[in-house]
Amino acid sequence: MTGRHRVAILISGRGSNMASLIEAARSADFPAEIALVLSNRPDAAGLGRATEAGIEALVIDHKHFSNRESFDEAVDEALRARAIDFVCLAGFMRVLTSSFVERWAGRMLNIHPSLLPLFRGTHTHQRALQAGVLVHGCTVHFVVPELDAGPIIAQAAVPVVPGDTEASLAARILVQEHRLYPEALRMLCKGEARLEGERVWFQQAWSPDGALRSPG
Ligand code: GRF
Repeated sequence: MTGRHRVAILISGRGSNMASLIEAARSADFPAEIALVLSNRPDAAGLGRATEAGIEALVIDHKHFSNRESFDEAVDEALRARAIDFVCLAGFMRVLTSSFVERWAGRMLNIHPSLLPLFRGTHTHQRALQAGVLVHGCTVHFVVPELDAGPIIAQAAVPVVPGDTEASLAARILVQEHRLYPEALRMLCKGEARLEGERVWFQQAWSPDGALRSPG
């Protein structure tokens, strides 16, 4: 299909967010096509799902590179060779170099399973339970060199309920991740949201009314 933005999804594992982006992009009115799925791990389960969907699934194994710079250079070349416009990190477990991130500034998103800036890094659900928060969620943000620190483009919140475990919380949030990421990518590709300096500019205002209450 021509005229749509070309998106690459970078994964390291399961690829459920990747699958939700692929599914969204099947719709003719979605402003992007998924042109490439790239994994740094040859055993990433998401690779098979991408291939089944008819999308090129490329492995660039980080173990074959002696340093981060050369790995990132290979990834960058692969993206450029395919005329990729936007990059979505979706469970991609490698830290990217500042020079790579800066090259893709404003064109690279990540999804993180917490309401940033809370709980950057790993084990977010466990840490949310430990902290006793009653609202938790997920965030899509622009990628900047500092980990999980980029300007926020979209967030979804869910209640934390008594008896929740890491698994129950992860499952509740994953449902929202799968809705939020395609929505954020759509906004970016349509120019409805863009990075301006250290902030996200939004074309449209939205309602300030309503709240997720927990206990509700
Ligand atoms: C998701 O929870 C995402 O927020 C985080 O890593 C997980 C990846 O899951 N960055 P999947 O590979 O998309 O299923």
